[in-house]
Amino acid sequence: MSAEQSKPSGPDLGRGIPLEDIPDGGMIGGHVGDDAVLLARHRNEFFAIGSTCSHYGGPLAEGLMVDDTVRCPWHHACFSLRTGEALAAPALNATSCWRVERRDGRIFAREKISEAGRRMPAKPRPTTGSPGHMVIIGGGAAGYAAAEMLRREGYGGDVAIVSDDTAPPYDRPNLSKDYLAGTAPEEWIPLRPPEFYVDNGIELRLGTNAMAIDAAERSVMLSGGEELGFDKLLLATGAEPIRLQVQGADLPHVRTLCSLADSRDLIARARKGSRAVVVGASFIALEVAAALRHREVEVQVVAPEARPMERVLGPELGCFVQQLHESHGVVFHLGHTVAAIEAERVRLDHGATIDADFVVVGIGVRPRIQLAQQAGLTIDRGVLVTEYLETSASAIFAAGDIARWPDAYSGERLRIEHWVVAERQGQTAARNMLGRRERYAAVPFFWSQHYDVSIDYVGHAAVWDEIVQNGDANAHDVALRFRQAGRTLAVATIFRGGESLLAEVAMERGQSP
Ligand SMILES: Cc1cc2nc3c(=O)[nH]c(=O)nc-3n(C[C@H](O)[C@H](O)[C@H](O)COP(=O)(O)OP(=O)(O)OC[C@H]3O[C@@H](n4cnc5c(N)ncnc54)[C@H](O)[C@@H]3O)c2cc1C
Ligand code: FES
Repeated sequence: MSAEQSKPSGPDLGRGIPLEDIPDGGMIGGHVGDDAVLLARHRNEFFAIGSTCSHYGGPLAEGLMVDDTVRCPWHHACFSLRTGEALAAPALNATSCWRVERRDGRIFAREKISEAGRRMPAKPRPTTGSPGHMVIIGGGAAGYAAAEMLRREGYGGDVAIVSDDTAPPYDRPNLSKDYLAGTAPEEWIPLRPPEFYVDNGIELRLGTNAMAIDAAERSVMLSGGEELGFDKLLLATGAEPIRLQVQGADLPHVRTLCSLADSRDLIARARKGSRAVVVGASFIALEVAAALRHREVEVQVVAPEARPMERVLGPELGCFVQQLHESHGVVFHLGHTVAAIEAERVRLDHGATIDADFVVVGIGVRPRIQLAQQAGLTIDRGVLVTEYLETSASAIFAAGDIARWPDAYSGERLRIEHWVVAERQGQTAARNMLGRRERYAAVPFFWSQHYDVSIDYVGHAAVWDEIVQNGDANAHDVALRFRQAGRTLAVATIFRGGESLLAEVAMERGQSP
């Protein structure tokens, strides 16, 4: 979504506002000319930056100010109030910045001093003493974010992304949401236009499989036989969909959704009135169901659990999600599995059949750790990394869906399949590849969108002994705290962006929200 979508409202900050209208820690959304601007006060300093988040256009004035930064209420991106820089993903572009003047008891936002979109030095600065060849395997969230951060940090050596996908890095979460529903234009999908990579000296080796890593020799064997040497390597190979193991699962109309090509394939099949069976009631599976309903496809969901998403969100929210989908015409066959798939129907374990023109299997993913295993890295249901995202081999880092890292808040080792986690790990890994020794300390966050409802989830609760609910999911206004032994491990919210951000900050500080 573009920044132009929000219409500037609120006070004209060019004309100034009284000093007392903005207390310490306060923010005011207003405008300067046609630009939506956020005026913020941190102690005795005042800042003015663009108030529209550069990710999907979230209203930063409704977000949370933390010292001299502001977090977006939609997907928790973080911006510097001093410079407008996008400090934490999922936003990657800076927002504009205005000069602030204090005069006669009023605060004014004057001329723009930096433009939105600025994100790194125009040309990489030559670096001395830095490694000369950075190789990144995987062109997804973590891989892309790492390459971008290397350049943003001014790294001047070689950067290569090796990806077996034929498309340049793209916005994967959108593939099961607006893009699949037909409400997102094609240009939203690439994370960057092609010239970005050329201009910033990021070599994209697309359609190229990394076949093997020689950790001692510091080289990667590529499909085609070429060997690519590295000084530092980032493994960011992500996860792949788990396949159904039943008769007919390999028929051509049985699909999974992981890549842009997969999403396009589903779009081609999703004709109005066609019949789809979605296998699984996970986040991706149900987002697919919602998107297909938008295209007026008949959707039936088959899943073994009693309620969708119960394992992650608990029974209450699971029930709400089910009813939400049912109200949009989705038919559930819960407590059942698929026994076999035929050309035009799906047979369930109890013998019932469902007619289907195509089948989408969304029963989870598994990390792509074969390369790491082959390279002899330490594996524990993922690639084991330190808080600096280093693997057991020197000069090799791992980030994203494959990485199992020590999480500061829970004290556990986590491996999590979230877009924002992968991007932020990519950013931290990049800085550590440059020798920074920065701990990965972000609290996990994800969102999932179903029709007009977005569920936000911060923290991580694999198990809990209590769910404390505040509000009403049916009123689209709720917060659920997943607690274990009196400590909140995770908070799920609907339309409570501020509460989700407060919970995130508390967990970062080691406090139970
Ligand atoms: C349809 C869909 C919707 C999603 N929606 C959400 C959401 O709403 N919110 C959320 O938080 N998360 C969401 N996720 C999860 C999120 O996209 C992942 O957690 C994130 O992309 C992981 O990033 P990554 O960099 O680890 O891996 P990926 O983004 O998967 O990238 C890995 C890349 O590595 C490449 N690769 C793998 N092995 C090799 C090899 N040997 N050689 C070369 N290239 C290789 C792959 O082709 C891929 O391009 C969604 C995922 C999908 C599939
Ligand atoms: S819109 Fe701001 S983080 Fe997504």
